[in-house]
Amino acid sequence: MAGMGRDGRQSGGMSANKIKPDVIGRIMALTIGVPRESLAGEKRVATVPEVVEKLVKLGFAVAVESGAGDAANCDDASYRAAGATVIDGAAALWAASDIVFKVAVPTPEEVGLLREGGTLIGFIWPAQNPELMQQLAAKKATVLAIDALPRQLSRAQKMDALTSQAGVAGYRAVIEAANAFGRFFNGQITAAGKVPPAKVFIAGAGVAGLAAIGTAAGLGAIVRANDTRAEVADQVVSLGGEFVKVDYEEEGSGGGGYAKVMSEGFQAAQREMYAKQAREVDIIITTALIPGKPAPRLITAEMVQSMKPGSVIVDMAAERGGNCELTESGKAVVKHGVTIVGYSDLNSRLAKQSSALYATNLFRLMEELCKTKDGVVNVNMEDDAIRGLTVIKEGEVTWPAPPPKLPAAAPAKPAAAAPAAKKGGHGHGAASEPMAAGPLATMFAVAAVLFWFVGANAPQAFLAHFTVFVLACFVGYMVVWNVTPALHTPLMSVTNAISSIICIGALVQIAPPLAGGMPPEPWIRWLAVGGIALTAVNMFGGFAVTQRMLAMFRK
Ligand code: NAI
Repeated sequence: MAGMGRDGRQSGGMSANKIKPDVIGRIMALTIGVPRESLAGEKRVATVPEVVEKLVKLGFAVAVESGAGDAANCDDASYRAAGATVIDGAAALWAASDIVFKVAVPTPEEVGLLREGGTLIGFIWPAQNPELMQQLAAKKATVLAIDALPRQLSRAQKMDALTSQAGVAGYRAVIEAANAFGRFFNGQITAAGKVPPAKVFIAGAGVAGLAAIGTAAGLGAIVRANDTRAEVADQVVSLGGEFVKVDYEEEGSGGGGYAKVMSEGFQAAQREMYAKQAREVDIIITTALIPGKPAPRLITAEMVQSMKPGSVIVDMAAERGGNCELTESGKAVVKHGVTIVGYSDLNSRLAKQSSALYATNLFRLMEELCKTKDGVVNVNMEDDAIRGLTVIKEGEVTWPAPPPKLPAAAPAKPAAAAPAAKKGGHGHGAASEPMAAGPLATMFAVAAVLFWFVGANAPQAFLAHFTVFVLACFVGYMVVWNVTPALHTPLMSVTNAISSIICIGALVQIAPPLAGGMPPEPWIRWLAVGGIALTAVNMFGGFAVTQRMLAMFRK
């Protein structure tokens, strides 16, 4: 059923019973309610005072349950100051809310408090919680599951709470490892002796894994990582890690940036490599996940036993069964002298940061739902991102959503073609594309005729310069081609600066003529002066830009 805005315009998404007319009959803005999380150990809160201000600017009224942000260092006073109303008690808060923002999956009691026809936004995990879905549908609710966001849409990234939360959790996993590990991460040479750097192995280089790689490398450890998706190898390296390959050829991508279950042969080869790493490293952080499947078992009891005493394993997949055989979910245990951390509340251990990022994700979602900035929501089922998120619409279960119209595989094609094209470029004529052979041959033939023509007709002096020019082009091309693409811009600016050697030519024109020589025309001298001025800009500007760009690559 369509909802309406203050001006009576149809909003197309919310049911009419949510829209409150004010005293003169205009439609009032909807109220977003933020309850205190009732799940034991959940310290996050679904919005923070800084975001309340933005929601108010978007036209919404915001109500927060008293004490909701206490565990995330956001007190009632800061919410009030940001423009929210603070309400005592869960029942009163839920009753006052048109839209409820939640973090943890709602409990049956919370669903009981939700208004008939209300809107709920938060983590739902519809596949794992069919009963919850039924309860919410019975309430005629509209439910937007933030975990169901089609992450492959680049437009959806700003709303991607799974990514924002996994990034924080990956960081915290390293901090937990450092806490349980009895040594420095970085190597040190002191008067009291030499300390080698810690060796950290990260299993799974998704969002959490990459955050963990960056954090551990930043602390000075030697970081290695493995993932079944070979495409992440570059990202591992760019964050300061080393990608360790499994000695078995198999593509691990299941599409959309997710992994697939690997063959038995691959798994055996992977176990062998992991066993070797377990013997060598001090810390293992496991983050491997295949959506909709139990966590892959990567670290066996024997591997744990083979680790050095005092080593640490942080198993981020603990809640989903664990990547390590000996993990106990929610606990840190010591087995065979190895501390195995299986905390499932890594985000709550950085509650303020996690809440702030989550709140921003929800705010970005509200911006999409309320493009008119008048506190009225339009759940537009034609929009791929919103369609994906909406798991229940006014009591009707709409999950699972059809795949978004933009297939994730589409952009992968040019990316896969790129290395082949690059190889062709290096190999000169070894281009794999049959299409390229024809035009290439024609080009060479035309160039050969041109060279012959120039050689036969041009004066001797010109030929010498021309030969140097052609060789310079060739050498320049080969040099530039072998530089990492990321460094092309600083390279171009430095060559730009060097090219200013033409300045020398201008100086020769200005200089007094040698004995017996003819001075150049005055206008040539002035031209040379102008040339020197312009080249100076080019030269000093080029060096300055190069310095600034190279500084960006230094830590
Ligand atoms: P993700 O899907 O971005 O990354 C998982 C990675 O594991 C993917 O790159 C995938 O290719 C890789 N992978 C799958 N099977 C593998 C295998 N057999 N060997 C090597 N790599 C494999 O997931 P994300 O967001 O990084 O989350 C990682 C894990 O952390 C999940 O299990 C998630 O539930 C958990 N998590 C735990 C938290 C906690 O408090 N403990 C908080 C947030 C996330």
